Amino acid sequence: MAAAKSTILVIDDDSEIRYSLSRVLSSRDYAVTTAASGEEGIAAVKKSPPDVVFLDIRMGGMGGIEALQHIRSINPRQLVILMTAFGTAQTAIEAMKYGAFDYIMKPFDPQKVLALTENALKTHADLRAAADYQPSLNTEDYKEGIVGSSAAMQQVFKTIGQVTASDVTVMITGESGTGKELVAHSIYQHSHRAARPFIAVNCAAIPENLIESELFGHEKGSFTGATSQRIGKFELCDGGTIFLDEIGDMAPATQTKILRVLQEGEIQRVGGTETIKVDVRVLAATNQDLEEIVKARTFREDLYYRLNVVRIRMPPLREHPEDIPQTVDYVLQTLKQQKKTRVKKVSAEAMAVLLRHKWPGNVRELENVIYRSAVVAQGDTILFKDLPPELRGAAGTDGATVPSSPTAVPAGTTLEPATAVVAPSAQTGAPAMEPAAAAEPSSPAPPVATGPSALTLQDALDFVYARLKTEGREPVLERLEREMIGRVLKDERGNLARASERLGMTRTTLRKRIDALGLKV
Ligand SMILES: Nc1ncnc2c1ncn2[C@@H]1O[C@H](COP(=O)(O)OP(=O)(O)OP(=O)(O)O)[C@@H](O)[C@H]1O
Ligand SMILES: [Mg+2]
Repeated sequence: MAAAKSTILVIDDDSEIRYSLSRVLSSRDYAVTTAASGEEGIAAVKKSPPDVVFLDIRMGGMGGIEALQHIRSINPRQLVILMTAFGTAQTAIEAMKYGAFDYIMKPFDPQKVLALTENALKTHADLRAAADYQPSLNTEDYKEGIVGSSAAMQQVFKTIGQVTASDVTVMITGESGTGKELVAHSIYQHSHRAARPFIAVNCAAIPENLIESELFGHEKGSFTGATSQRIGKFELCDGGTIFLDEIGDMAPATQTKILRVLQEGEIQRVGGTETIKVDVRVLAATNQDLEEIVKARTFREDLYYRLNVVRIRMPPLREHPEDIPQTVDYVLQTLKQQKKTRVKKVSAEAMAVLLRHKWPGNVRELENVIYRSAVVAQGDTILFKDLPPELRGAAGTDGATVPSSPTAVPAGTTLEPATAVVAPSAQTGAPAMEPAAAAEPSSPAPPVATGPSALTLQDALDFVYARLKTEGREPVLERLEREMIGRVLKDERGNLARASERLGMTRTTLRKRIDALGLKV
């Protein structure tokens, strides 16, 4: 039985375009239908959604962008390629913003149309076939805000449970992005101090000469600039919980004063003489190796013992990769609740990459990657091609498993505009919409998800192979050989000595191949 033909709908009010595009597409055995207006097109999509839609931006009646929005609201997975006569950054941004798969400029290059169509159809197939990770938990189960079923995370939860009943000081250690602050907050929320304030102080972010005043307050005139009295965090937090973040960066003088609060439960404002009683629970965190800095004498040993009554060590994500799927699911649900994405899941292929990555930035990095991928994803699933290039690149170079999917490879360069205009900032994870063309000339181009730099030779070979396979009984090797020898000859301007060297064959062999392939030198 023959496989069902791929279906394509062309929406354009120009009959000539409808005709010529249909002709080009029909050459590939696609089932093409047409519509002469936005309204007609929308009706057609409602009746029977095609695999891919070509949609003109400028039409009489309903405009292309409006039609695009309609179509995407009927089906957010619908792949739409916009057609435009002008290739401005403006059009590109508009098109991509409203969820077009890509756009193409008139007049068309038939080869580009076909490459783009094939690319869209591949994505369509991926979207359908994606053997998805099915969310196992719903939002309710994530109430806690800390995800993890691994033994390592279960141990963390147990310890949190144990320390909530008392006022014991807790030291939370772990690499950046492992969730230290999250844990501090959770301890606080479960403690009997939950109704009292929680104040987090980032000791590394406050200049050394200001930190004491920040923590303990100061009296008017106690130093230049102290124009009025100030109440410090410890006093403000009376009855509550203070979280001293990045405590490894605290200056020795401040360490001494913290020790005093912990031992005596009292503070003195900077420049003051009065001793003030405070009742504060202290939680502390650092990503430094505490034992190391105690040994190096940059951290007081007595303070170390005071703080380190209970230690919670946050495991780096690479030590509990089994928690990755749940965390991804949680991040997507959160983004969805914030109306930042419609994406619900991740394809099996993309998940395999996420599971293999080492995550030096831990959960924070994972969150960022999911956010960035969700921004560029077309339907409700993050596919391999939606992952940031650095992850896709690693998948090809670590040699473990090379994704054989041609989605890793651009068909032509048609996908570039899609990803070049959406360059979410890596630090904040916030999507920044900016046209590639508007960037400073000297600044590096934003990461282009499908740029050739992200490709390994293996990806390219996989792609070519997949491509050639679909083209019937082509003598694949001969075609590749002709192509490669032809290009090298052209590059070397017919110099057989240099060409044979580059091709790794003797000059005699090269000459024989040239004759056999009927190439011209
Ligand atoms: N187990 C987890 N479940 C869900 N989200 C997590 C988890 N761990 C970390 N996160 C999220 O990752 C981000 C980083 O977490 P957090 O700020 O607590 O890390 P940190 O260890 O304090 O990092 P740093 O040392 O850089 O300050 C936050 O957005 C947090 O919500
Ligand atoms: Mg932190």
